[in-house]
Parts: sequence; C-alpha cells; structure tokens
Amino acid sequence: MNRLVVVSNRVTIPSAGAKAGGLAVALNELMERQGGLWFGWSGRASDDAASTSKPAIVDHGSVQYATVDLTHEEYRRYYTDFSNGTLWPLMHSLTEQMHFDRRSLAAYRAVNERLSDILLPLLRPDDAIWIHDYHLLAMPAALRARGVTAPIGFFLHTPFPSPDILSSVPDAAVIIRDLLSADLIGFQTANDAENFAASAHRIAGATRLPGGSLRIAGRDIRVGAFPVEIDPQEFARTAETASHNSDTQRLRRSLDGQSLILGVDRMDPTKGLRHRLAGYRRLLETRPALRRAMTFVQIAAESRQEVDNYQYLREDLDRMSGSINSTFGEADWLPLRLTARGGSRDTIAGYMREARIGLVTPLRDGMNLVAKEYVAAQNPDDPGVLILSKFAGAARQLGAALLVNPVDADEIADALDNALRMSRPERQDRWMALWETIKDTSALGWGRSFVNALADSGESQGGRVQRPGDLSPATFPNVGSKAADRRGAELRLVPPTSLSVN
Ligand code: G6P
Repeated sequence: MNRLVVVSNRVTIPSAGAKAGGLAVALNELMERQGGLWFGWSGRASDDAASTSKPAIVDHGSVQYATVDLTHEEYRRYYTDFSNGTLWPLMHSLTEQMHFDRRSLAAYRAVNERLSDILLPLLRPDDAIWIHDYHLLAMPAALRARGVTAPIGFFLHTPFPSPDILSSVPDAAVIIRDLLSADLIGFQTANDAENFAASAHRIAGATRLPGGSLRIAGRDIRVGAFPVEIDPQEFARTAETASHNSDTQRLRRSLDGQSLILGVDRMDPTKGLRHRLAGYRRLLETRPALRRAMTFVQIAAESRQEVDNYQYLREDLDRMSGSINSTFGEADWLPLRLTARGGSRDTIAGYMREARIGLVTPLRDGMNLVAKEYVAAQNPDDPGVLILSKFAGAARQLGAALLVNPVDADEIADALDNALRMSRPERQDRWMALWETIKDTSALGWGRSFVNALADSGESQGGRVQRPGDLSPATFPNVGSKAADRRGAELRLVPPTSLSVN
C-alpha cells in the first residue's frame, strides 16, 4: 500500500482542543491507515532562512506533518496577489475582480517549485501524492521535472471556469499544462470537469478521449468529478448536542420567538453577501408585515484582509447593514445582526439547528459545505428551509432546496417569504429529500474514492505513471531541471505499487 502524501497550502495539524472540520479529519484518517505525510505552508511569513527552507516536522501517530514558512515577499506575491487576487476570482468566473501582474505569476510558479524542492527529499519511492487546490496548480509539473514518478493526483476545491473566461488570464496555457502532469485531476462537479477538459483541449492542445480522459505528450490523464462530502450523521449529532449549550440558548433567548434566518460564510466576494443583503432589504421593503417576526444573523468571518477586494467588501457590508438597521430597525428590534467574527464548529452547528432558514447564496462556489451542514443540523420533526444559490456546486445534489439566482434581490426576497410561510409538512418533505441525498455520504468516502481512482490511474498507465522524459523542461520551459538531474535517477527506477485503502 502506498504511503499517502497530501500537499496543500494550509496544513491542519491535529491539536488538543481544536476540533477540525470533516475534510481535515478525513485526510488524516486516510493517512493514518497507510502512513502519511502532510506537507505545505506553515501559515507564517518570515525572513529567517532556516524556517523558510527547512521543514518543521511534527509526528502524530503514523502521520508526519512537514511545514515551511513563506518569505514576506512570497506571502505577498504568491498567496495574496496571485493565489487570492488572480486565481481565486478567475476560478469563480469573477474576472472583473481579478488582478494580474506577471511578476506575481512568476513568484507563484517559483513558490510551487521551491515547495517541490523542499518536498523532494521527504518523498519515498512508494508514495502516492495528492495535491490540493488552486495555490498549487504548478506543482505536478514541478515535481515531474524533478524526476518524481509516483502517482500524482490533484483536486481543485473551487469551481473551474469556461475556456473563454480562463483565457482572460495571460499564460492560461502554461497553468493548464502544469496541471496536466498529474495522473488524475478531480473537480467538485461534472460541469467543472467539463470546463477543464474543454480548456485543456482548446488552450493547451490536449486530445479528449472517450470516457473523459485527456491525452498529451503520450500520457493519459484521468479527469473526473468527486463532490466533497461532510459527515452528515456526525454533524447531526453535534448540532443536536449543541442545541442545548449556552451559546445556542443565549441566541434563542435573544430571538424572543422570532424566526432566525442564518448565513454563515467567510467574508469573501464570491459568497454573494452584498446581493444577499440587498435581497433581505427587498424583503423588508416589500413585506412590512414580516418585519418584527424575523431576525437575520449573518456570520461573515473576516478573511484575506490583505486583498483590496476583501477590504472593500467589509466596508460595503458595514455600510449596507448599518443602512438596513437604521431604516427598518426600531428601539426594541433590529432586522440584521452582521458579525465578522467566526464561531466554533459546535456553536455554528447549534445556530444552524435553531435557524428556520439557512441562506446560502454564493455567486459561485465549488461545493459549499455550509449548505450540507445546514441540512444535517436540522431537527427532523421541525426542520428549517435551505435557500441555496443555483451556482453552488452543492445545488447539483441539493435540488430539493429553494434554489435562487444569487444576484436577483426579488428572487431572494420571494424565497425568504416562501420559506418563512412554508407549512411544516412541506418543510419536512423538502428536508427529507435533502437528507436522503446526503445521509449515506462521508468525508472519508470522498477521500477514499479519490485515492482509489488515483491508484487506478497509476495502474492504467502500466504500473508506472510518468517517464520524466515525457515532460522535459523543453516541453515546459518555465520549469527548471536542475533538481530533476540530481534526483531523477533514484526515484524513477522504482515502479509505484498499487494503492488500496478499503
Ligand atoms: C477556500 C479554499 C481553501 C482555503 C480556504 C480558506 O475554501 O478552497 O483552499 O484554505 O478557502 O482561505 P485561506 O486563504 O484563509 O486559506
């Protein structure tokens, strides 16, 4: 069984007291079973050469965590400017929010290569490597250029845009070709996988094969949808327990019988928060009778404040919420409570169970696990109503929610009105349909399905995945070759064994 090496920008090291979310737990569990290494950024910026070049290693059971600091310059160029200022809006098709600076792209690629250099000595010949998310799109090519022959899987947690949108960023072809050094490329939905395959064909010249795979430089790359799941049963238990805790009781008392509308998001321009507040405002304007019967609590946890668009969003939301409260609020009732502070997983689960409406209206979202958590948190005897953007990946599975266009204030207002008035039998019917969709899924099942598919793609390449010569630096001029020359020999000789995590 191959050791599983997970690579992601952020690394979740289990620690006493902190309760990690389902994905981190699932990845840990997968790694525990077969031995694992989790490698990535420490979350710190430093100009100390030792901490930026030598990984800090923490052992936890059979899993090793290896993290390095970024330099301040790398933090600014790679993380803030290119990952979050260019790629994040691009992946969400929000090109008007996208900045582009060639120097940041170069820094992004350089960090992907530097991380590959640091990872290389930690790798073993029998590893299977699973790289996560948009920060590390160049890493499959960087590892191959350094002679790594292990199976490489890549999973994108965000949506993937259409070829036209993608080509709005210069050098889109290079980014796609870098990714095509992986053996398996996974997306949240079939739509994202299709967008990628179409882009790889049109922009990078890959051949589309029957069954969804791609071929380039004599190699086949499997492309597929692997929708991320939560642990619904566990979340349901957490929410039930939390509904008796002091945080939930305090919230319940403060509502004094009003219906709770709840939004839980990072404060991020993709989450549709401006439009959501506009929709709520429309409801207050057009349905005065509802005014004192409800309270909207929007948790918008502060995020990525170094990026200009996130600061503007914060300012806009402060202004819009102030205006809603001063226009419609009264001495003893405020329509909206907006907070930029997040809450613990337990607290949020308790709030979700309390909420008559879960309002989840991203402009676009890879999946949106809040939507699934809201469903899991409900009391089956008296469930709330999920209002969900039709542009969230989760909408593909959660069609029994009230689906809305997140930019249409009237549609949001109508859905809120409908949900507030919805009879208990209809709420139960809708909730049951949603619960049936998710109840047998798990985060671990998601991880397993990806890792098994990675094993299959390794095998379908004849027991070895990559000849380093196939993707030489001549094919990918931006990827350096020195380390490949140094390290290639010892790694390329060993055929990868098959993966199995059942
Ligand atoms: C999204 C991304 C993750 C990222 C998270 C938090 O969910 O897909 O990769 O870690 O946002 O963002 P941050 O910039 O704080 O890591």
